[in-house]
Amino acid sequence: MKILVTGGAGYIGSHTCVELLNAGYDIVVLDNLYNSSEKCLDAVKELTGRDFPFYKVDMLDKDAMEQVFKENEIDSVIHFAGLKAVGESTKIPITYYHNNITGTLHLLQLMEKYGVNNIVFSSSATVYGMPKTVPITEDFPLSTTNPYGSTKLFIEQILKDAQAANNKLSVTLLRYFNPIGANKSGKMGEDPKGIPNNLLPYVAQVAVGKLEKVHVFGSDYPTPDGTGVRDYIHVVDLALGHLKALEKKSNVPGVHIYNLGTGNGYSVLQIIAAFSKACGKEIPYQIDGRRPGDIAECYADPTKARDELGWTAERDIDEMCEDSWRWQSTHPNGFEG
Ligand code: NAD
Ligand code: UFG
Repeated sequence: MKILVTGGAGYIGSHTCVELLNAGYDIVVLDNLYNSSEKCLDAVKELTGRDFPFYKVDMLDKDAMEQVFKENEIDSVIHFAGLKAVGESTKIPITYYHNNITGTLHLLQLMEKYGVNNIVFSSSATVYGMPKTVPITEDFPLSTTNPYGSTKLFIEQILKDAQAANNKLSVTLLRYFNPIGANKSGKMGEDPKGIPNNLLPYVAQVAVGKLEKVHVFGSDYPTPDGTGVRDYIHVVDLALGHLKALEKKSNVPGVHIYNLGTGNGYSVLQIIAAFSKACGKEIPYQIDGRRPGDIAECYADPTKARDELGWTAERDIDEMCEDSWRWQSTHPNGFEG
């Protein structure tokens, strides 16, 4: 079975490529390397001992993307490619809508033309907006609080409409919670450009001495220690969720929606403590005001994925931090360092 992985050079995409190759799938990777490095794909090849075609293609260039479909017999697509920075999306919303939505429309047009009827899409817990309660189940009301989140919600709707019009199409929407961690080898991991927006890479860069201290955004939330609570999930568990989705839902027409989270919430201070344990150093931090748009608590009810896909996240918070630290400490400047 040949899988087209869009955004396969990125953080989650590359970890999924490793698991796909190890499980015996053939892959084709498409990425414009806007937010990633080709060296990450070298690591994927080294770790798996397998080769695969890579197309440095922008999804906005439909003709270039068509070459990928012409030259490869694709059975399924896992669609990771997209811009993902929440704050940036409020500043350049048109770019976000154009990149994420137009890119997806091109992909769907080509899938239709070449008779590819399986797609797994990287959605996000962001589509639950400001959930009234936790844990979150897949049937919670959907809304968004920023343009990035809107691209996810709109693409979900586009995929639902495409499926309604093509009864052979299998659409799986995977709503990720907060992916962290790295491949055990320490040879690949998250490599954000510039100052990280997300908590874990920020903490990791403080630990390695690149940043001075963590800024904790708010300590007055209605949570046990006042700091924000999230459902952190190991990126390898997340990657394996994609394999389960392919195994169970490919060629099963319909729209299949799953939360990929652990079901456990950890606060910012708990994450700092867990990372400190993993790296054996104190992590300096200071309490700042709340970050606009943040919610107090967000964690999944992952029961549906367990029952229907046979998937459960297995790696705990200590393992997530240890694996992140192995990558960060050996690659303080990421792939290009
Ligand atoms: P990432 O930025 O590391 O990977 C995305 C990849 O897509 C990058 O390699 C980038 O170069 C590529 N890309 C972007 N626009 C492209 C285009 N027009 N054409 C070709 N390639 C393009 O991000 P990630 O963390 O691996 O996220 C993967 C997916 O999961 C994204 O869709 C993201 O929105 C979604 N997601 C991520 C998180 C998270 O916290 N990391 C949470 C929920 C959902
Ligand atoms: N936080 C800090 N300091 C930082 C960064 C974050 O205190 O420097 C706090 C936030 O306030 C929040 C928690 O750490 O309480 C997690 O923040 P992240 O930015 O790491 O993650 P978010 O939950 O805000 O958002 C992430 C992705 C979104 C995605 C969402 C749900 O960035 O794209 O998870 O999957 F939609």
